[in-house]
Amino acid sequence: MDFHYYTAATLNGFLADEADSLQWLFDVPGAAETEKGAGQFLAGISTLVMGSHTYEWLLREMDLLDNPGAWPYGGQKTFVFSSRDLPVPEGVDIEVVNGPVQSVIPEMTGEVWIIGGGDLAGQFLDAGALTTITLTLAPAFLATGKPLLPRNLFSDRLELTGATKKGQFVELAFDVTG
Ligand SMILES: NC(=O)c1ccc[n+]([C@@H]2O[C@H](COP(=O)([O-])OP(=O)(O)OC[C@H]3O[C@@H](n4cnc5c(N)ncnc54)[C@H](OP(=O)(O)O)[C@@H]3O)[C@@H](O)[C@H]2O)c1
Repeated sequence: MDFHYYTAATLNGFLADEADSLQWLFDVPGAAETEKGAGQFLAGISTLVMGSHTYEWLLREMDLLDNPGAWPYGGQKTFVFSSRDLPVPEGVDIEVVNGPVQSVIPEMTGEVWIIGGGDLAGQFLDAGALTTITLTLAPAFLATGKPLLPRNLFSDRLELTGATKKGQFVELAFDVTG
């Protein structure tokens, strides 16, 4: 079982602005094409993991409670980390879980995609359960926002395995070692 943190980010390491907007990402020419790459990545994934703010963004943007069929990860089990009692769209395989990631990892199977946010990915890193980091960097900076990975992680533990231009984006892939 491997744990993959795969995400888009600004050049200065933000996942979203302070108001959880991704407009800086959607505004990049060719963004929709690049999103297809995420579809290919998803095909190899069995389990998805996300924090509550990421989940609530999806609920809102896709109106999922009224339109459960729009849930984009139908073939995979999703764990949403939250201390709150969050609603789940009918018929969708989502489990809301609370507490240390170590206590939930035994329930996970196959390849795991940590969608975000950054601190949740950091909790997996802290637990020794982060195998790869793949960043799709957008040509954008934000003055403030939600951090990509609020941890110290240096070159002794990061091995660059790929760097690919994808339109206006660049994808950087790393193995996390040690
Ligand atoms: N650029 C991209 O491709 C990309 C990718 C992913 C996310 N995003 C965006 O980036 C933003 C991320 O937001 P965020 O940084 O605030 O992170 P988040 O991980 O989505 O949400 C953080 C919240 O999750 C809950 N949580 C985290 N760890 C937990 C644990 N171990 N046990 C229980 N609950 C836990 C806590 O809230 P509660 O306990 O109060 O519920 C915490 O405040 C969102 O806007 C999202 O849409 C962008």
